[in-house]
Amino acid sequence: MRKKIVAGNWKMNLTLEEGQKLTSEIVHMVKDELNQPVTVVINPPFTHLQSVKKLIEGAKDIFLGAQNCSDKASGAYTGEVSAGILTSFGASYVIIGHSERREYFKETNEQLTEKVKLALANGLTPIFCCGEPLEIREANTQDAYVTEQLTASLFGLSEDEIKQLVLAYEPIWAIGTGRTASSDQAQEMHASIRKHLASKYGQAIADGISILYGGSCKPDNAQEIFSKADVDGGLIGGASLKSRDFVDIVKSF
Ligand code: PGA
Repeated sequence: MRKKIVAGNWKMNLTLEEGQKLTSEIVHMVKDELNQPVTVVINPPFTHLQSVKKLIEGAKDIFLGAQNCSDKASGAYTGEVSAGILTSFGASYVIIGHSERREYFKETNEQLTEKVKLALANGLTPIFCCGEPLEIREANTQDAYVTEQLTASLFGLSEDEIKQLVLAYEPIWAIGTGRTASSDQAQEMHASIRKHLASKYGQAIADGISILYGGSCKPDNAQEIFSKADVDGGLIGGASLKSRDFVDIVKSF
């Protein structure tokens, strides 16, 4: 049985006070309303990690994640935050290779491999993102594009390493646009990603890896998307900033 996971990616939003309020609301709603095992991950800005960690302490199934980590272990890299520092704050997860990092910060496949390795070495679970831009979808070459992203960054990992990852398929044309992939489009890509993982690591390992969908996932489409066989949850941007919406998505399985 694969883990069901819903991760909220706050991106560069919310003051500390707003983030604390949101976290408290999520903790209470999850406790009162969730009646099945779902792993909930909150990924605030770095500056909020410690406060959010305090607020989720003792909350069953709610974990702390970061939105990024450095591709270096430590040293003179002004402004960077290492995987080891994240672990020291009580983080359990880290998003790696989000399309915004790839696009605006020019993160390369090689850097992403380093980040994944450092995250694993420091006991963090990477949520590794992949997904195609609109022109690739329009040319109908999304399969080749996404499998190449995975091959380039992840296929040097050992079986023991890859098993520990969570993947997130996020078509770039659906992120923050209100234009979500259909549940069939999501299922098709998730199945293709799993097949690609199986080709390298075998079916058993591929079957154990949770693959999340991301891109304008909302309370009114989450249930349909999460009902698909190879969709194991969601990576939620905009809708993770509202407690009611986020927890409704968590309850959508
Ligand atoms: P969105 O973002 O839900 O706002 O589309 C998803 C993401 O970027 O992870």
